[in-house]
Amino acid sequence: MTYKSMPKVEIHHHIEGAAPPKFIAGLALEKGIDISKIFDADGGYAYDGFGEFLATYEAACTPLTGPQEFYRLTQAILAEAAEHGVVYLETFISPDFCGGGDVAAWRDYLAAIEQAAAEAEHDAGITLRGIVTAVRHFDPDQANLAAKCATETAGDFITGFGMGGAETHLRPADFAYAFDMAREAGLQLTCHAGEWGGAAMVAETIRDLGVTRIGHGIHVMQDPNLVAEAVEKGIVFEVCPGSNVSLGAVTGWNAHPIAKMRDAGLKVTVSTDDPPFFHTDMTREFTLLNRTFDWDVVDFSALNKTAMEAAFCDDATRAKIAEKLGDAQ
Ligand code: HPA
Ligand code: ZN
Repeated sequence: MTYKSMPKVEIHHHIEGAAPPKFIAGLALEKGIDISKIFDADGGYAYDGFGEFLATYEAACTPLTGPQEFYRLTQAILAEAAEHGVVYLETFISPDFCGGGDVAAWRDYLAAIEQAAAEAEHDAGITLRGIVTAVRHFDPDQANLAAKCATETAGDFITGFGMGGAETHLRPADFAYAFDMAREAGLQLTCHAGEWGGAAMVAETIRDLGVTRIGHGIHVMQDPNLVAEAVEKGIVFEVCPGSNVSLGAVTGWNAHPIAKMRDAGLKVTVSTDDPPFFHTDMTREFTLLNRTFDWDVVDFSALNKTAMEAAFCDDATRAKIAEKLGDAQ
């Protein structure tokens, strides 16, 4: 059975991290930028472990020099996601890679991304929303600039604020100002935590940043009291099993805690994170969950429903997603 055509809702995805290596290599060639060292012999992204992953990721962003490049990137990633049945996608977009945190430049990048999104919605029926994302290891001042970009453009398309990057760099409270700004602008909040940091990082992220969703969060399972608190608060976990296996956050699919998380009553969703970096897509995520945990259409429908309910979108958009999920099941 292939799950490719089943409609899917994906809520943890990085726009730059979804760039096909061929696309980045082609742009680099056009611009005379030499980033040949980030590709392996098969033309995929080369890295070993999370530190190198972040370095390769940042190098891969260097040919993305302007709005037009993000327009083309958005076209490419939405065509790819739609191929795998994704009807609604939330992607993380970093002002750091889109104008360096300058609000005027950011607006131009965003206009290009929104243009490509509107075209893909019309042509392929996939809806995109953007979550402005700070990069943790770029430090709190830069996160505040990202938050400023987010507050200036909060609306129908930019609906959330979050943070990725090197999770063990500083503590969540060091970034509270950025998250406070975003919250006051009406944005919904998520943050990577418990991918590399332990349960305490998840606890502090919920407490000090006031997020309703956690990116990854797999190490929540180290602390039963925190599990109970997260269940009680209805925190949603954006789980990316293929990413965790590929980066070594878990030792393999069999060791992945997603089934235990679900059984403990936590709200879990499934996403790809940075698909080409991890040689994955939503079809592969569903297929491996089926092979590993025997999850099937009923389980995947539940994941979709949780993701739809947790989506950072307005109710009219949510109703549209529900219709697309309902029609095809
Ligand atoms: N973790 C943290 N930061 C990231 C990731 C990730 O998996 N992908 C892109 N930035
Ligand atoms: Zn991520």
